[in-house]
Formats: sequence, C-alpha cells, structure tokens
Amino acid sequence: MFNVRSLVAGAFAAGLVSMIGLSATAFNKEPKYTIKEVMKAVQKDGLCKAACGEKGTADEKDKLVEYATALAENPCPKGDAEDWKKKTGALLKAAKNLQAGKKNAAEQVKKANNCKACHDLHK
Ligand code: HEC
Repeated sequence: MFNVRSLVAGAFAAGLVSMIGLSATAFNKEPKYTIKEVMKAVQKDGLCKAACGEKGTADEKDKLVEYATALAENPCPKGDAEDWKKKTGALLKAAKNLQAGKKNAAEQVKKANNCKACHDLHK
C-alpha cells in the first residue's frame, strides 16, 4: 500500500503547504483598521480634536498614531496612489510629532487632516 517514495512525497507536500501558510501570515501585513474605522474614531468620535487640544493626553496621542498608521497602511481606495501615500504619510508624521511632544505638531496634524482635500480625491 505505502512505499517509501509516496511517504516522502507526502511529507514534502505537507511541509510545503505549511510553509506557504506560515509565510502568508508572516508577510501579509493587514492594516489594523479599515479606512471607515479610522474615520469613525479619528473624525466622528473626535480623537483628532482631543489629541490636538491643550488637554490631549498621551493615550490619545498614542491612539492617533495607531490610527494614522493603519490609514497609511490601507491601499489607496480611489484616485492617485502617490498622492494617497503623501497625504496619509504627512498625517502619520504629524501625529508622531505630536506624540513626541514637538512644537507646533497640533497645527501640523490639523493641516494634514484636511477632510475636503483628501475626500475630493480619494473618497
Ligand atoms: C488622508 C485622507 C483623508 C482625510 C484627511 C480625511 N478623510 Fe474621511 N475618508 C477618507 C476616505 C478614503 C473615505 C472613504 C472610506 C470608505 O468609503 O471606505 C473617508 C470617509 C469618511 C467618512 C464616512 C465613513 C463611513 O463610515 O462611510 C466620514 C464621516 C469622514 N471620512 C470624515 C472625515 C472628516 C470629518 C475629516 C477631517 C476632519 C476626514 N474625514 C479627513 C479619507 C480621508
């Protein structure tokens, strides 16, 4: 019924399948949040305003970086992909500056989080 050759071939095939499975989970970096989830938390629920305000807490700033990271990791939904990278990258950079306590970072975030400029092109 079984011979050595088919056993070896079977083991090899099983190894290959698990390797492909592993590499798929290791390299496929899904964004933590969808664009809609980011918009809800950051815009509608006011995280951006809160983090940028005088009373913005470290926790709010950390969260803003987390959401901005996810936004930048989402592929461009519509329009020019280079521009999407630029806009989401600028927002992420500004959020990181805010997190690091850099001067004028709140202004940078507000400027980068330009609803209309981004929606006109990418929504
Ligand atoms: C860097 C780009 C970008 C910026 C900046 C941005 N948005 Fe969005 N927004 C999007 C995209 C893209 C969508 C469409 C998401 C989808 O339909 O999957 C969207 C969708 C939305 C939605 C609808 C979400 C839903 O559940 O359908 C709301 C509300 C929203 N944005 C509010 C805002 C507000 C308010 C601001 C500014 C304070 C803002 N956004 C700034 C890219 C952006």
